[in-house]
Amino acid sequence: MKKKILGSGAMIPVKIAKNIYWVGGIDWDLRNFHGYVTQKGSTYNAYLVIDEKIALIDTVKHYHYEEMIERISKVIDPSKINYIISNHVEMDHSGSIPLLKKIAPHAAVYASPNGVKGLTEHYKSDLGFKQVKTGDTLKLGKYSLRFILTPMVHWPDNMMTYLPEEKILFSNDAFGQHIASYDRFDDEHQLNMIMQEAAKYYANIVMPYSEQVKSALSDAAKLDIEIIAPSHGLIWRKHINEIIHQYEEWSGNLTKNKCVIIFDTMWNSTKKIAYAIQSAFESRDFETEMLNLQTNHISDIMTELLNAKYICVGSPTLNNNMLPTVSAFLTYLKGLAPKNRFGLAFGSYGWGGQSIGQVEDTLASCGFEMLESIKIKYVPEKNQLAEIINKLEGLIK
Ligand code: FEO
Repeated sequence: MKKKILGSGAMIPVKIAKNIYWVGGIDWDLRNFHGYVTQKGSTYNAYLVIDEKIALIDTVKHYHYEEMIERISKVIDPSKINYIISNHVEMDHSGSIPLLKKIAPHAAVYASPNGVKGLTEHYKSDLGFKQVKTGDTLKLGKYSLRFILTPMVHWPDNMMTYLPEEKILFSNDAFGQHIASYDRFDDEHQLNMIMQEAAKYYANIVMPYSEQVKSALSDAAKLDIEIIAPSHGLIWRKHINEIIHQYEEWSGNLTKNKCVIIFDTMWNSTKKIAYAIQSAFESRDFETEMLNLQTNHISDIMTELLNAKYICVGSPTLNNNMLPTVSAFLTYLKGLAPKNRFGLAFGSYGWGGQSIGQVEDTLASCGFEMLESIKIKYVPEKNQLAEIINKLEGLIK
């Protein structure tokens, strides 16, 4: 389906339904979103709803403000905006509210109670906030906006906004993907690419809050939805069932027979153990991924372990500790808290050998069911590697 556009040249708004426009910002250069490597950039999606009253749903990062205003100006005079809906406090969506309030000073800002609290604390002033709760409706004329609070998906303040007359769910961070693109809709790209980015987004941002996602999905199931308009990336209009199904699987912490082996190595001894572990899992028909921390970013590793049953982590010992790359990965992993997994720590050492116990302790503190750790002094011999394979084959469930 061809998208409908207004105006010409750069910074065009994109019509997503009658009198409803995407007016966001495209961050082509974004490569790091607080530690999450965004190889495809991102967008900050803001949506303009024109009726007797004019509403703007979310804004953009502060440095995309002019871009957003240029898009809005091709539809209406931005000073005529009556309502700003702030679905989420985080600054990639609220960052332009103070600037917009300078040209639309009478616009009221609607947010959840935690949203009003967070926005007030962050921006150190009352920008005309009004609190809403689940079920509250704001009439714009023919259109209306219904609010659904979704706390901890992924901040305490999150909410979604539903426009029943056009069956659009403005879902904010949920269902998002970090993709910068000229196109706005899911049917304008390859679905497997969008799903890969949606999976990375879920693994790196949403995963710790799976229980809250389940509750948000149950609220969404009560709605008649034809468009899901998230705050990052492409708008879902063709593959709504697919992305909801994926969120059900991811939030259920469902795993498959897959083993991710994450390691760093000094003199290739830990690497040899890693490959022995891989052999054992392969012989038990597991899908395996070898993820050397020297060549893989931790945010890409999280995508790979989203549905992995076994998470094996290896480090040699350096100055009585694990390698810093492994330590950074484990800190990140612990924060993102995948559930229902098996863990295995491994590594080689020369004399101290403390790293293996440290890795084991961290994996155990994630709540993983642990296999007996593998610890080899100096360079593993062929017979030792064969023994690892043999023993592990018998333990894999
Ligand atoms: Fe896209 Fe939680 O901000």
